[in-house]
Amino acid sequence: MRAFKVFGLLMVVVMVFTACAPAAAPAAPAAPAAPTEIKIAVLAPLSGPVPTFGVSTRDGALLAIKQWNEKGGVLGAKIVPIVEDSQCTPDPAVNAANKVINQDKVKFIIGEVCSKASIPVSEIADAAKVIQISPTSTAEALTLAADGKAKPFVFRACFIDPFQGTVGANFALETLEAKTAFVMVDQANDYVKGLAENFDKAFKAKGGEIVGTESYTSKDTDFSAILAKVAEANPDVIYLPDYYNIVNLAAKQAKEKGITAPFIGGDGYDSPDLDTEAAEGSFFTNHYASTDPRPAVQDLLKAYAAEYDGVVPDALAVLAYDAVNMLLQSIEEAGTADDTVKISDVISKKKFDLVSGSFTLDEFHNPTKSAALLQVKDGKVEFHSSVNP
Ligand code: PHE
Repeated sequence: MRAFKVFGLLMVVVMVFTACAPAAAPAAPAAPAAPTEIKIAVLAPLSGPVPTFGVSTRDGALLAIKQWNEKGGVLGAKIVPIVEDSQCTPDPAVNAANKVINQDKVKFIIGEVCSKASIPVSEIADAAKVIQISPTSTAEALTLAADGKAKPFVFRACFIDPFQGTVGANFALETLEAKTAFVMVDQANDYVKGLAENFDKAFKAKGGEIVGTESYTSKDTDFSAILAKVAEANPDVIYLPDYYNIVNLAAKQAKEKGITAPFIGGDGYDSPDLDTEAAEGSFFTNHYASTDPRPAVQDLLKAYAAEYDGVVPDALAVLAYDAVNMLLQSIEEAGTADDTVKISDVISKKKFDLVSGSFTLDEFHNPTKSAALLQVKDGKVEFHSSVNP
């Protein structure tokens, strides 16, 4: 009876209290609410030397995020992209990474594109336990820690340059039946340097001869001194594994000098702004071909054209789309958007079926994937062949 009275009194107190203060916190602590938003940073070189890389990367990533949000987001939360212009350059990329990590408190970074910008970002992301997936940085150092193991929080969605350089060398030797090659290299660009070294090694290993190697810098616009040496050496092919802005200048000047040896390069040629007249006759290794009949490719082509006014996505757009899907599928499977250790664990073991192919990551967080060889022919970029690892 007494207990009942006390209870009744308590009820009155509670009711009065609730009536007076309807917003009062409940007595028992509630479980932490699931986040309603999950932020993903996209570091893309929207300005600087290679702006088409930035536009494609941003657009591919945003389309993937939009599709996820249309399906209800991830783990019930809306995905909010934060796009930063990282300029394909170390300092702006590092500033963008610090900003999204410290101010926006993101736990996920898609980007950068260019290896020399992604590598410094990876140091910051890894130290902060922020997951970074570079869609397109192919330099080996991106995912490697000082101890020779993989950086635990850093991944990529593309193959690496030891493979890409070797594919270029084998193609020159076997398909073009080249015996000699001339290599042009920007020693300050991790990507260009890595590809040049890997091409050199693979070309020589199979009996090819490197008849000259010349260095330039990313500021150079006049390649005539190097091209004079190329003309003199008269190689069967010229390996110039740089981005389209440099290729446009060098290939044009080579044509003006009457040099007919084809240029061979890597994924850096992939741009709507590649000067196909200057680069006519060139070949380059890339990550995907839009003529690939697989439904995953053709479905993305349709969705991309619908979203972006009929544009055909390049490899950068496709890999950015894939990188976002890698991340969101892994967050979903991990059942958390907070615990980046758990999510990293899923990423390192999961089998991914994506537009650019199906793969698991190796112990260094690199996918094993085939390469597409593309050819600049009659002013157009065409699929030539596919090369398996
Ligand atoms: N692989 C280049 C790098 O590491 C970036 C790139 C990828 C450029 C794909 C074009 C297409 O710097």
